[in-house]
Amino acid sequence: MMSMLALVLVLLLSLGGEVAWAQEDGQFSYQGFSRANVTLEDSATVMPNGLLSLTNSTYQTESKGYVFHHTPISFLTRPTATTTNTTAVARSFSTSFVFAIDAGFGGLSSYGLAFVVSSTTDFSTASSGKYMGLLNATNSTGSDRILAIELDTVMNPEFGDINSNHVGIDVNSLISLQAKPAGYYSDNDGAFRNLSLSSRTPMLAWVDYDGQAKQLNVTLAPMQVTKPKTPLLSEAIDLSNVMADTMYVGFASSAGIILTTRHYVLGWSFSLDGPAPPLDFSKLPTLPRVGPKPRSKVFDVVLPLATALLVAAVLAAIFFFLWRQHRFAEVQEDWEDEFGPHRFTYKDLFLATNGFKEKNLLGIGGFGRVYKGVLPATNLEIAVKRVSHDSKQGVREFVAEVVSIGRMRHRNLAQLLGYCRRKGELLLVYDYMVNGSLDKYLYNRNGMALHWHERYRIIKGVASSLLYLHEEWEQIVIHRDIKASNVLLDSQMNGRLGDFGLARLYDHGTVAKTTHVVGTMGYLAPELVRTGKATPLTDVFAFGIFLLEVTCGHRPISIDENNNQVVLVDWVLEHHHNDSVLDVVDRKLLGNFNREEATLILKLGLLCSHPLPNTRPSMRKVMQYLDGGQSAPDLSPTYMSYSTMTMMQNEGFDSYISTCPPSETSILTVSGESSVSALLDGR
Ligand SMILES: *[C@@H]1O[C@H](CO)[C@@H](O)[C@H](O)[C@H]1NC(C)=O
Ligand SMILES: *[C@@H]1O[C@H](CO)[C@@H](O)[C@H](O)[C@H]1NC(C)=O
Ligand SMILES: *[C@@H]1O[C@H](CO)[C@@H](O)[C@H](O)[C@H]1NC(C)=O
Ligand SMILES: *[C@@H]1O[C@H](CO)[C@@H](O)[C@H](O)[C@H]1NC(C)=O
Ligand SMILES: *[C@@H]1O[C@H](CO)[C@@H](O)[C@H](O)[C@H]1NC(C)=O
Ligand SMILES: *[C@@H]1O[C@H](CO)[C@@H](O)[C@H](O)[C@H]1NC(C)=O
Ligand SMILES: *[C@@H]1O[C@H](CO)[C@@H](O)[C@H](O)[C@H]1NC(C)=O
Repeated sequence: MMSMLALVLVLLLSLGGEVAWAQEDGQFSYQGFSRANVTLEDSATVMPNGLLSLTNSTYQTESKGYVFHHTPISFLTRPTATTTNTTAVARSFSTSFVFAIDAGFGGLSSYGLAFVVSSTTDFSTASSGKYMGLLNATNSTGSDRILAIELDTVMNPEFGDINSNHVGIDVNSLISLQAKPAGYYSDNDGAFRNLSLSSRTPMLAWVDYDGQAKQLNVTLAPMQVTKPKTPLLSEAIDLSNVMADTMYVGFASSAGIILTTRHYVLGWSFSLDGPAPPLDFSKLPTLPRVGPKPRSKVFDVVLPLATALLVAAVLAAIFFFLWRQHRFAEVQEDWEDEFGPHRFTYKDLFLATNGFKEKNLLGIGGFGRVYKGVLPATNLEIAVKRVSHDSKQGVREFVAEVVSIGRMRHRNLAQLLGYCRRKGELLLVYDYMVNGSLDKYLYNRNGMALHWHERYRIIKGVASSLLYLHEEWEQIVIHRDIKASNVLLDSQMNGRLGDFGLARLYDHGTVAKTTHVVGTMGYLAPELVRTGKATPLTDVFAFGIFLLEVTCGHRPISIDENNNQVVLVDWVLEHHHNDSVLDVVDRKLLGNFNREEATLILKLGLLCSHPLPNTRPSMRKVMQYLDGGQSAPDLSPTYMSYSTMTMMQNEGFDSYISTCPPSETSILTVSGESSVSALLDGR
């Protein structure tokens, strides 16, 4: 009941439109300007929703616009009469405002917007255009004292402008005392993040002057970022010489002829001798919609009726909105800005997959469920993988990697299109593959078996994509989870390696001593289990197992009719030692296969899955064998069984193999210090 009341209260307050209040002299706060005590000059107008529009150059005339707080502010203090020194001193002040510059369709903005402190509000002789409505060609304004913080989107070399997107501190001149490209220093890592002033995105700006330290700071930030600790501009300046006894505060702006730029101020607060009151973003007016669908006026029309029915309706709307907010809520952090283009909105993915309906479920893999979807905007078919992920650690590195992976192009890689983050969840978006994953074809009892030439082509494709990851991409990428179920088949039955790097997500943020091994049972190289360190050679090991799997049509670890566990490598090796290696080739092929090729693949499979890492070939070498440039390798006669070797290398490994049921999709998490304490992780 209480929360209900609170809601109604909040509702009534917000129905009252933007809240404006002006306390004692020298402090005010406006969220929207409908009821603000301000003077508008020239083309400045307050739109019905309270949005302040400074310029309107849509009619091909240059325009300038001003807004000033109605009452002038006493910026100077004079020492008490008892002292002889009567020099006036400028007081500290602080202001914050939310602005937006809409450069229209061309994206080219004309001129800019400035926060102004001036001894007059009469700017009739000031010029528009590059003079930003502040001065004219003779540097005169009628005011001899003017402080401006310019948000300039045009580069005027005659004023020494650094670029066409900068912030500058100006005193009585358009040549800035100090200027920097628009942006802010992130509190997270201190790095500089660019902001585009004319992006039509509302942004926050702060201007703070410390009268004692005689220091003027200017700070910029996107709405969702709290005020950065490091200001963009910090200038040592004594404003005592600039300020008159009373000065007006406000904004000036100018737009040029051809370009239809609009300058907006959404909210503004100011305070003398203290920090500017914080703005309540929820009460700020919205920018006018661009595009064909005009904003519904329903609320404006029925509002005066203010019946209980309306309240109920609005309440319902709010609940719906909150529910929607919650439903489509995402997690987005500061550092993700640079990955913008690779980010999908949850809403788009939700709509694409019909709300993640069961009907769209393609499969459940070790890392999560995969859904089929169609992006509404482009009709592109996608596969969306939902990976549950509760730890914050490693996400950043992982997302960086996802984006870097997204830039890879190889015909045998499943293309990663982007990602989205929600609380406890990561969504990865891939190209949709019509024919699903390879394991379905290998282990499908009723269906048609894959022909040998198809298997051979898939193997070559996967090998070349792995070579690309290991050696041809700009950095070494370790796949970490090569297996038949991670090989997807496109419409021409080409193999495409998917899911790469995913295992790494679970590999970060490990406790100091233990290392988590992530991969799939039966494909884990013995040294990976022992040390927890994935290398290209541990990938080669898994690739070797994959070769045997595709050739034999058997899972890496299986149970035979006598309930004995069969380790695929050992079984193939045994036949190899007995000179009967071709007996292991998938029975479903009914003998229809190329003997030379099959012999090569089986030998290569054994070589790649050799327990000793240094005996395994690199992927480049593997590719040379497959391309026929090199004759089949010979296995050393001392090649011992996988189980024997690993047992010798690491007591206990064998026992863990036999205690775990063979499971294709499980992710194995093993503490690297003692592989005996192997755990099956159910995720
Ligand atoms: C605006 O400020 C002026 C000067 O203090 C005052 O006379 C006027 O009543 C104020 N108007 C409103 C609407 O508060
Ligand atoms: C822009 O100016 C034109 C002409 O002065 C006017 O008709 C139009 O309503 C203005 N637009 C806005 C949004 O103020
Ligand atoms: C008076 O005070 C101001 C500010 O404290 C200082 O800059 C100035 O030098 C002083 N003048 C004299 C004559 O002491
Ligand atoms: C106006 O400012 C510019 C740049 O500082 C200067 O070159 C010019 O002489 C000034 N003109 C006047 C009339 O002060
Ligand atoms: C510039 O402003 C001054 C002072 O208002 C005015 O006297 C002068 O005529 C203006 N010059 C131009 C070129 O508009
Ligand atoms: C920021 O903008 C500048 C100039 O446009 C550019 O040189 C720089 O690479 C940008 N930095 C980032 C991180 O985007
Ligand atoms: C200006 O920024 C500096 C940090 O660069 C800070 O120490 C100082 O307190 C700031 N001054 C004001 C008035 O915000």
